[in-house]
Amino acid sequence: MRHGGRWVLLAWLVLGDAWGGDLGAVATGHPVATRAAVEVLQSGGNAIDAAVAAALTLGVVDGHNSGIGGGCFVVAHLAGGRLVALDGRETAPAGATREMFVRDGEVMPEASLTGALAVGVPGQLAALEALARRHGRWPLARGLERAAALAEAGMEVTPGYAARLRGEAAALRQFPESAAIFLRSDGSGWEAGEILRQPDLAATYRAIAAGGTRWFYRGPFAQRLEAWMRANGGVLTRRDLRRYRVRWREPVITTYRGWTVAGFPPPSSGGVHVGQILRMLEGFEVGALGAGSADLAHLLGEAMKRAFADRAHWLGDPDFVRVPKGLVDAGYGAALAKGIRMDRAVPVEGHGEPPGGEVDAFGKRHTTHLSVADADGNWVALTATINTSFGSKAVVPGTGVLLNNQMDDFSVRPGATNFFGLVGAEANAIAPRKRPLSSMSPTLLLRDDAPVLAVGAAGGPTIISQTVRAVVAVVDFGATTAEALAAARVHHQWRPDTLVMEGGWDDAAEGELEARGHRVRRVPALGAAQAVGRRGGRWEAAADARGEGSGAVATGGR
Ligand code: DON
Repeated sequence: MRHGGRWVLLAWLVLGDAWGGDLGAVATGHPVATRAAVEVLQSGGNAIDAAVAAALTLGVVDGHNSGIGGGCFVVAHLAGGRLVALDGRETAPAGATREMFVRDGEVMPEASLTGALAVGVPGQLAALEALARRHGRWPLARGLERAAALAEAGMEVTPGYAARLRGEAAALRQFPESAAIFLRSDGSGWEAGEILRQPDLAATYRAIAAGGTRWFYRGPFAQRLEAWMRANGGVLTRRDLRRYRVRWREPVITTYRGWTVAGFPPPSSGGVHVGQILRMLEGFEVGALGAGSADLAHLLGEAMKRAFADRAHWLGDPDFVRVPKGLVDAGYGAALAKGIRMDRAVPVEGHGEPPGGEVDAFGKRHTTHLSVADADGNWVALTATINTSFGSKAVVPGTGVLLNNQMDDFSVRPGATNFFGLVGAEANAIAPRKRPLSSMSPTLLLRDDAPVLAVGAAGGPTIISQTVRAVVAVVDFGATTAEALAAARVHHQWRPDTLVMEGGWDDAAEGELEARGHRVRRVPALGAAQAVGRRGGRWEAAADARGEGSGAVATGGR
């Protein structure tokens, strides 16, 4: 398949041997986390243990993206063939109110992004613990101890980390505890190559390893967090932490040209809209379109636009609102696809009306993605985030734990845009203990019930578009795992009515798309994805060249 030249230098490694000695495959957003997961597989842990170790390591070496102060979603295929989804998303504190980010009739965008009010009740640690306990071979403590040693010894700051620090140094300076960790004494960020040590975070990991997650959710961490919240105008309390619960959910299962796609259900919009977009594409001969063509970018964009119009209206926490299952109905997808014309962009005024209404509903009643698989058939797709770069920017004093700003993922008021320019409505309004809507899309692709790809991404709403692109590349273009991530990306989120494109499309594509009525915005890169795959009996692992991750096949005796 054709892809943009600059992405050909994809940072991927396939180190497997040909004699079946491979233990599995790993791809994460940081080489140190990839190594941690590979070592787990080589030491007798399974893919779940490896994913947990990688996530805890990322909280140390890539803490501006994810950590135990944030949340995560996991879709996993278990060795016995079962598919499960685990929701470790943050919740709004009990003291949150619908209009908490509106003052005198005006939305205060900064308040949902920075500081105490921006913080949702963290879920990642509870999720990793639940995952390890139910499906791992190792206790959580083992992963915590290893990551603690790393936090204490220090990590080399990567160019990407240093760039993030430069961008956020002014915001971090508002929080002395954060500044003490992430900035030098002159207030500037650590530079690439310097060693960043996090002794408080190491102590926190060790205390959890010794005392269990109670230390975090019911013990000293909860006390310190509440004290900091009180002193800084927040509403999150110890009680919020004590009442936090992960949720095991049913993955969203759809099909695409006979392949099975297992995605994350609400409160993520990821699984629903990846599935819905693929449903729309199914009626087109996608594989016959040039991989870098205006036709392909147009078709993807038009399908995405329709899905995001539905997202803005229908999607929210299924424990609070009814999210229609009809959104992923094949007939509904086909009906929406009928509105797509190849010769011009068709404006979409608003959401559609999926079949079954709200009766047949789901659940009835700056981020990182990692993918791990083992030779027993355990596959894990895990996406974790504290939301934007360095989350709320605030660290709970004495703990090293950087808190999320996931409250910004709520629709703070109908029609108001969030950090990612997303609009929302009633379904995603703030309510006490509600989970903010997400776009995170940890996804498994299966053929004849056997997993062939675990994929997901970082990048807000573009996560959905990146995931669709990877699935289309594999199914329609026969791409390898690495090629699927290298494929040129396009994104449309309905509002703004703009087709966002990377380099890598045919030179003439932009002009052709404008002639069809698209407003085109070019960007150097969209997001960062990580994937592992299995093709022809061999493991593949790929990390996105747009990020700093790495992929590796774990070799060794079993
Ligand atoms: O859950 C979500 O959709 C967002 N909080 C993800 C944020 C993200 O991907 C940041 N990376 N650019």
